[in-house]
Amino acid sequence: MEIDDIRGDLSEVLFTEEQIEKRIAELARDIERDYPDGDVLLVGVLKGAIIVMADLTRELKFHAHIDFMAVSSYGASTQSSGVVKINKDLDTDVAGKKVLLIEDIMDSGLTLSWLVENMRARGASSVEVCAMFRKPEAVKIPVDVRYVGFDIPPSFVVGYGLDYAEKYRNVRGLGVLAPAVYGGADPHA
Ligand code: IMP
Ligand code: MG
Repeated sequence: MEIDDIRGDLSEVLFTEEQIEKRIAELARDIERDYPDGDVLLVGVLKGAIIVMADLTRELKFHAHIDFMAVSSYGASTQSSGVVKINKDLDTDVAGKKVLLIEDIMDSGLTLSWLVENMRARGASSVEVCAMFRKPEAVKIPVDVRYVGFDIPPSFVVGYGLDYAEKYRNVRGLGVLAPAVYGGADPHA
């Protein structure tokens, strides 16, 4: 879907498909520079990261090895551990491998901080993070994110893989969901 197809549900369009595409190409160049021989496993976090994963890997000029994990978080996002559950685990043994976690968005940082620790605990030789979007004002657990697509305000956004109640993931751009659509309270809180 195009961002214009959901314009009525948005209070603001943050990024068009063209802006995202341009930024993806820049991120790919950064990643190629840091992993010149392509010796890295890209780990996408389902479901939100499917779009950035598809776009980023096709932009890369090396043979990208990919795997996916699905996790869900429980409890207050101020808690730093023990509140993330693995719903689908990796097929790959990451011991001794360089891992690059690919996330759609970093909000509180809970999911990513847990995932980084989890990859380290499995013996990954290095763990880096790429988040397509990040809300700096919402971060509660700092995570060293090596590759950031765009920093955005702490509003609830949809499109480019991000959903509200499983809708809008397949929208090409990114927009702020109008509060009227979700009834006011932060749908992620
Ligand atoms: P965190 O653990 O608080 O950083 O949250 C990360 C996850 O929450 C993301 O991977 C998304 O699935 C979801 N999320 C956070 N903010 C938004 C948003 O603005 N729109 C849609 N999903 C979001
Ligand atoms: Mg996610």
